[in-house]
Amino acid sequence: MERNPYTVIKMLSGLERLVERALMSDQPYYPGLEGVVAGETSISTIEEGLRYRGYSIEELAESSTFPEVAYLLLHGELPNQEFLADFRAILDDTGELPAPVANLLTDIPLHASAMDVLRTGISAVAHFDPQPDETGREADIARATRLLAWIPQLIATRYRVSRGLEPIEADADLGFAANLLYQITGRQPTALEERAMDVSLILYAEHEFNASTFTARVVTSTESDLYSAISAAVGALKGPLHGGANERVMQVLDEVGSPENAEDWIRNALANKQRIMGFGHRVYKMGDPRAVILKDYCRQLAERRGDLSLERTADTIEVIVGEEKELRPNLDWPSARLYHYLGLDVELYTPLFVASRVAGWAAHVIEQSENNRLIRPRSRYIGPDDRPFVALDERG
Ligand code: SDX
Repeated sequence: MERNPYTVIKMLSGLERLVERALMSDQPYYPGLEGVVAGETSISTIEEGLRYRGYSIEELAESSTFPEVAYLLLHGELPNQEFLADFRAILDDTGELPAPVANLLTDIPLHASAMDVLRTGISAVAHFDPQPDETGREADIARATRLLAWIPQLIATRYRVSRGLEPIEADADLGFAANLLYQITGRQPTALEERAMDVSLILYAEHEFNASTFTARVVTSTESDLYSAISAAVGALKGPLHGGANERVMQVLDEVGSPENAEDWIRNALANKQRIMGFGHRVYKMGDPRAVILKDYCRQLAERRGDLSLERTADTIEVIVGEEKELRPNLDWPSARLYHYLGLDVELYTPLFVASRVAGWAAHVIEQSENNRLIRPRSRYIGPDDRPFVALDERG
């Protein structure tokens, strides 16, 4: 009996669907990809402490600078004096923002968030890439180095023009971290302030397959470009469960107001099942090693100010969240206070995270593109069963 070929195809696809569904239903499913190893990397590890390219974060925070760490992440080795000088020269020589981009920072409506403006700014500077068609490691390292120089300017220029202030040119005599503070605040930082900023940039620079880094790798896996991957990563980092948490931490501390209010505030928040920004981590369950380092700088800066009240507020909240929820601070918990002590407005906190993490994101973009396989996981279908089509005029 001759069967209509379409009937046969329909039968086979029905059978195929049954087999597929049986196979998929056996596949393990991990919400949020928790605990799933989604790739291999030689850039960093958070097993037994955080290490960038094999160097412990404690040693890097103690003895290196952010430009050295950015070079390490991008090139795979710590630079010697000559290579670091060359890298710094490239950062310094990248120069001012292209005029159309600087004008855009003035023209974007004031209600736009600093992170949204930064995402737009990174996309805008991409159009001024001198070798837009170049591909490969060296071209992407050059792009990443230009972004490392331009992102602080995007942040500082927008911050100042949105307040009717003139942008400030970088001072060639200042280091990277000092210039970042100087171009925002107009004030040269003290040695302690500069070191605190530098260490925060070192600690924010890289962290394995966090949500924004994985976003950058997914974009790269389609053979898209570095700027698209970095812009997408900025979008992912903005979220309050990720990079956006550091801004919300400062809002919490402002709401608490004083050490005397801290215990009542946190017990009430926990009783209301509130998520306490700056606490918990998908991977670090016994505490974020970066938070310990930054906390010490917070204490030093607070002592220099002669006002430890914010530290006392934070300590009370830390103790109670630890006792009640067994949750430890992640690096956003101290970084908010540190940026506050440096005189920075809250809206700058997550953009500063971008200024640092762009080094890690770019390293992952390069690594993904050099050993690429399209990232395309499966999903488990939980929608309606097969059902026949109903013509428009027959629908209720
Ligand atoms: C960063 O991944 C990275 O590496 C990120 C990062 C990096 O360098 O790139 O380290 C930077 O993003 C740090 C995290 C910043 N985010 C926050 O501080 C937001 C607040 N933290 C939480 O939202 C939470 O801890 C996450 C999102 C960070 C991690 O959450 P998980 O692993 O998904 O854990 P979960 O949400 O499943 O929570 C498990 C339990 C839940 O309780 P139950 O519902 O089981 O009773 O712990 C509770 C949660 O309610 N919990 C919290 C909490 N975090 C988890 N309860 C109150 N406050 C919190 N902060």
